[in-house]
Amino acid sequence: MTDLIYVNGGTPLNGSITVRGAKNFVSKAMVAALLGETPSELRNVPDIRDVHVVSGLLELHGVKVDYDVKAGVLKLDPSNVETAHMADIDAHAGASRIPILFCGPLLHRLGGCRIGDRPIDFHLSILRQFGAVVDKRENGIFLSAPNGLKGTKIELPYPSVGATEQLLMTAVRAEGITELSNAAVEPEILDLINVLQKMGAIITVRTDRVIRIEGVPVLKGYSHTALADRIEAASWASAALATRGDIFVKGATQPEMTAFLNTFRKVGGEFEIQDDGIRFFHPGGELKPIVLETDVHPGFMTDWQQPLVVALTQATGLSIVHETVYENRFGFTDALNGMGAQIQVYKECLGGTECRFGQRNFHHSAVIAGPTPLVARDIVVPDLRGGFSHLIAALAAEGRSSVKGIQLIDRGYENFMGKLEALGAKFEMA
Ligand code: EPU
Repeated sequence: MTDLIYVNGGTPLNGSITVRGAKNFVSKAMVAALLGETPSELRNVPDIRDVHVVSGLLELHGVKVDYDVKAGVLKLDPSNVETAHMADIDAHAGASRIPILFCGPLLHRLGGCRIGDRPIDFHLSILRQFGAVVDKRENGIFLSAPNGLKGTKIELPYPSVGATEQLLMTAVRAEGITELSNAAVEPEILDLINVLQKMGAIITVRTDRVIRIEGVPVLKGYSHTALADRIEAASWASAALATRGDIFVKGATQPEMTAFLNTFRKVGGEFEIQDDGIRFFHPGGELKPIVLETDVHPGFMTDWQQPLVVALTQATGLSIVHETVYENRFGFTDALNGMGAQIQVYKECLGGTECRFGQRNFHHSAVIAGPTPLVARDIVVPDLRGGFSHLIAALAAEGRSSVKGIQLIDRGYENFMGKLEALGAKFEMA
């Protein structure tokens, strides 16, 4: 696949596209298959690079992977799980943090796990509390469980998605009871709990975000259809708004998107919820500015923020966005300013409550002044979500932009060029 495309913007995106399973669930459900004694089957699996990366990592650990890409069906047979070499894991995983999630399951299956160095402090602390021995060496981290893993009580300093998943996948087969306070309860996590329950786990989620797990000695494989990718759905919704278009996102579901839908409506976008998807459209007229804060579920997701900011450049007035999940998610606004947007970033917590980044040196609030016509520019994609947002900006901008680094986008957006074509976007590959 080429890494550079030329986009002729200024045309509304109109038509229908399909989203399949959520990247941030599918990759974890694939790892969960390691916990079962028998094969698992996952359906609605999107053809994105992250799925291929995790498939490769599972194969390195002896799992037999059979992926029917077109049907979206993934069969995983973990009967012969084995240790993999760290160099192979690192070469295969790149910067992905998924390898750390292999550790709980592998400690149960093999008594050991090796990973390279990544920002995983919450994860290591959790594994230690279960009784794992963490040995940091020059070339990576070696984990072992000489006395098995035992249930424990843990309170997260922040409701981290990955740390909650780590805990779930470690606790389900640990001896005794585990209680996690301040857990994250994103829909992708709840669907992982569905999968684990199908495998034989006993997990209770309380309304105060305490998760209680009663360990069981053995789990079996699962058969499951993945929940829809609400980040991809919201990305296309924002593309409809920014280009004054009309997009039916087949497969999008309402319950996981209520916070996004409320905000979309407040900005002036309209939507129609149907049985098989959601139609998002720009009704004409002016868009309205908003004050928005990202948060953990059931709040407004951090991954929805970047594409929506592109649409906010077209709203009449000042919008304020306070990013409270990640400290550094406004870097993508530089390129937007280069296209004519007026976005100013601040270190202060603007427009909402004080967050944990408030007294530190992070530009984590943004003020967006609109409407600003966007003009074409040469863009280099910085990362997955920022990259898709740049692409939306190029599609909304008058003139011909070049967008370089689009391979980063196919990490999480299935067949996005095919979808752009279906929506009438004008672009060429270099
Ligand atoms: N954090 C730590 N230490 C840790 C783990 C997390 O300090 O050991 C911090 C992070 O730096 C961040 C905050 O905790 O400031 C929240 O991170 P979290 O652990 O919740 O995120 P994650 O599990 O690494 C997943 C998704 C992200 C999504 C976030 C929040 C996957 C593979 N990734 O990341 O998705 O933004 O939850 O919903 O599930 C994406 O899809 O592009 C993406 C980045």
